[in-house]
Amino acid sequence: MNDGQMQTEHIRLDAENIDEELIAHAAQVLADGGLVAFPTETVYGLGANALDADAARRIYEAKGRPSDNPLIVHIAGADRLGDVAKDVPGTAKKLAERFWPGPLTMVLHKQPDIPDATTGGLATVAVRCPSNRIASELIKKSGCPVAAPSANRSGRPSTTRYAHVTEDLDGRVDMIIDGGDAPIGLESTIVDLTADVPTILRPGYVTKEDLEAVVGKVQVDPALTRDAAETAGRASGQAHNTAGKASGDAAPSGMDAGLHPKAPGMKYRHYAPKGDLYLVQGSEGDVIRCINKLVEAAQQEGKTVGIIATAETKERYRSGTVLDVGTRPEEVAASLYDVLRQFDTLGAEVIYAEFLSGSGLGAAIENRLLKAASYQVLDAPKPMQSSRRRKLIFVEGHGNARSAMAAALFDRLYESSDMEAVSRGIVVQFPEPLNQKTEAVMVSNGITLEGFVSEQLSDEEIDQDTMLFTMEERQRQQVLSKFPSATEENTFLLSEYVGDELEIMDPYGGTLQTYGICFEVIRASIQKLSDRILEEKTL
Ligand code: TXA
Ligand code: MG
Repeated sequence: MNDGQMQTEHIRLDAENIDEELIAHAAQVLADGGLVAFPTETVYGLGANALDADAARRIYEAKGRPSDNPLIVHIAGADRLGDVAKDVPGTAKKLAERFWPGPLTMVLHKQPDIPDATTGGLATVAVRCPSNRIASELIKKSGCPVAAPSANRSGRPSTTRYAHVTEDLDGRVDMIIDGGDAPIGLESTIVDLTADVPTILRPGYVTKEDLEAVVGKVQVDPALTRDAAETAGRASGQAHNTAGKASGDAAPSGMDAGLHPKAPGMKYRHYAPKGDLYLVQGSEGDVIRCINKLVEAAQQEGKTVGIIATAETKERYRSGTVLDVGTRPEEVAASLYDVLRQFDTLGAEVIYAEFLSGSGLGAAIENRLLKAASYQVLDAPKPMQSSRRRKLIFVEGHGNARSAMAAALFDRLYESSDMEAVSRGIVVQFPEPLNQKTEAVMVSNGITLEGFVSEQLSDEEIDQDTMLFTMEERQRQQVLSKFPSATEENTFLLSEYVGDELEIMDPYGGTLQTYGICFEVIRASIQKLSDRILEEKTL
């Protein structure tokens, strides 16, 4: 019956001004045993009457989800906790007071009238009281507790946008409510309060530190740690030999090592994009260089490649489709699933992500990334220091503006001392100081070059350890024709070498602002050049 054959009703509600008639109608669909996808502050949920076993079973059918994976039961207010849970400990009451309504789910002993179809046959029930106003009004008006997993097809990333829900569930459920984007973007924190020490089964927006501030010591389910995942035979290989697959298609976490995650959902493949996702860890520079190299290798194999970067790092990738997840953890959480889904739409076959990890909300992001990647983590190799000192010569007409900026920037961005950068002119009649506007722009960027004078390029200084970079193609041709030691093998147009389309324009005669723009263009090119040279020094 649920094979995309149903007529799904779509309604739109504004959380600030909820249409009474429409929400009453949606609540009636729930009360009648129907399935309603609705927004929450974390992700969209697919709701059904939690007391109706048939309705709960239809959720599994619509999602294509294994039916032993229990559902979270949503209530309209903390005062209804007793309807679904019994023997509620004081810790639960304190946590409810502090975090409800909000993105916290508590595992407690269940009331007998919650059917096995809802709890997957467990004696416990996971309870959540969402703060999204559409969600709480819907639950209140339906008159029943609402069982709701995330509103996605099983195995796909959770849905954080109305469009995601429609993509996964149109034709499979009775109703979908468009309530805008889910602001948090990651599923609720799940804490088990039936154990001696409250135990986090799934990290989320409410952090371990937040919980500890209310109830004292809290532990994290040992099956969630990366060590557990790694003992379970997960990849943590060297990037250089893993441009292909790091391990077999990942079986679920923890389980094979004899670790049994307490949240039954943890054993299923989760949050996964269709492409093969790898997380790359290491220092920022090492990670970017490693990903650039992996992307190149994958593209040579003819693969469609995606990159997950932050807003700050996205410009440093040379090829592949780069999507950024913002910078702050809140931005990353809110955009991660959307980005994973975009790569599905784009048909990415392999995706490399900067491994964003951390504490607080960072722990939840780390957890979701690891699961989405089936624990495939690659270590970015460090570049090796070479014993031979090589020379880079940046070249332009007079050698006292663009080439001087380039040499100075290279010295600052390149993280190793085995390379020296100098600035030379093609036609230097007499030594000149730095061009005035160039100097002003550099000073305002914190770079001072004491005693700089321009120097003429000479054939003698070009040897086998030299690379020459010009700003314009015209200059490259001049260098090649004037200097016998300059060849196609050692003389490059800077922009072309780093994969940029446009030459670096001559700011001469322009305003200070023109020089400022020129400086930024050169900075971006030099960053890529430095990345590329360091990349060649990593195995
Ligand atoms: O933010 C959220 O929690 C969203 C929104 C819709 O509320 N819901 C959600 O549900 O993420 P779902 O089904 O995708 O994830 C529920 C998780 C599963 O991993 C499940 O195994 C676990 O909660 N769970 C449910 N009942 C449990 C129980 N009694 N004991 C331990 N884990 C339980
Ligand atoms: Mg889910």
